Amino acid sequence: MPIPFIDLQAQRKRLGQPLEDAILEVVRSGAFIMGPQVAACEAALAQFGQAPFALTCASGTDALILPLMAWGIGPGDAVFCPSFSFAATAEVMPLVGASPVFVDVLPDTYNLDPAHLDAAIAAVKAQGKLTPRAVIAVDLFGQPADYPAIAAVAARHGLKLIADSAQGFGCTLHGKHPLHWADVVTTSFFPAKPLGCYGDGGAVLCKDEGLHDLLVSLRVHGQAVKSDIAGKSFDHDPKYLNMRVGLNARMDTIQAAVLLQKLTIFEDEIRARNAVADRYAQGLAGVVATPKVIDGGVSVWAQYTIETPQRDGLAAHLKGLEIPTAVYYPIPIHRQGVYSGYPTGPGGLPVTDAKAGVVVSLPMHPYLERDVQDQIIAAIRAFAGANS
Ligand SMILES: Cc1ncc(COP(=O)(O)O)c(C=O)c1O
Repeated sequence: MPIPFIDLQAQRKRLGQPLEDAILEVVRSGAFIMGPQVAACEAALAQFGQAPFALTCASGTDALILPLMAWGIGPGDAVFCPSFSFAATAEVMPLVGASPVFVDVLPDTYNLDPAHLDAAIAAVKAQGKLTPRAVIAVDLFGQPADYPAIAAVAARHGLKLIADSAQGFGCTLHGKHPLHWADVVTTSFFPAKPLGCYGDGGAVLCKDEGLHDLLVSLRVHGQAVKSDIAGKSFDHDPKYLNMRVGLNARMDTIQAAVLLQKLTIFEDEIRARNAVADRYAQGLAGVVATPKVIDGGVSVWAQYTIETPQRDGLAAHLKGLEIPTAVYYPIPIHRQGVYSGYPTGPGGLPVTDAKAGVVVSLPMHPYLERDVQDQIIAAIRAFAGANS
């Protein structure tokens, strides 16, 4: 049997009948939109992510757009983000009319370089064409960005900080979730993510009640919310009072029901992912460059990404043995035609450019059996031995 890159069926079997019953319950109830599971899921996510407020939404991309809209970020504004990420991290800026400014990453963790961020913000300020408004840090491959340093830079320049934790939801730094430092944390529940649903889904976690209220409104066509109607009376349903231009960005009730089930085993799965990562690190030490996690950080290992100058040869060798691999990301965002016109920080992005040519990700999920992992490690060692 071919080795899966991510084994969602093993997880489904573990969750068993209660998962199927939870889905069927929604089907039978008919509450497909904003059923009670949505609020229950938001409460569970808030508790898990050490957040005062959690709002579910339709995708990790919507989760990024919503706070930008809430803060009124738009034309003439600059939002700083890494280029070594999935396109959605940068895509949301043009979607609201703003400009991404690409910042380099640190060579050991692939996460935003705080010194280059500082330099990029200073350069944009000096140029005076764009107004710096926010920073999006990404928890790439599952590990927390250097939030203490990034938050200090953002605060010094008076910028909002978004933690794009689409790949890292559940990661911690010194025992704290990214929201400890960020204004908002966004995540994606795309099925392959460490916490995934059975379709598209996302969430925004925040600390500020006023912001949360605004996000609630923006998620459903800018409908009137608590703060809009406080102290006023209406002779019609305020649901149809639209206070601002918003989106249809609701999470489906079925997805919330799936997430409620998956959250019951998520902590355990994070532990299992870390055990798999430890075994890879031991088995591959001295053969390829294995990932480094920031001091005090716990990764949720969305990807286990190694580096080798013979990346393409190794991937082809593994493919021949029916061992799947993937390259995240072969073309950094600032090198994609559609984004190549946006600014980068001073000196360009040499680390990002170099990493794109050497990274390759291996099968990683909580249910990777030891003998299968041994097979993968042996295949990599054999390739390295034959090509050294
Ligand atoms: C870093 C990052 N940000 C944002 C997203 C967008 O999430 P979604 O696919 O749920 O819209 C992804 C998804 O792959 C991602 O990896």
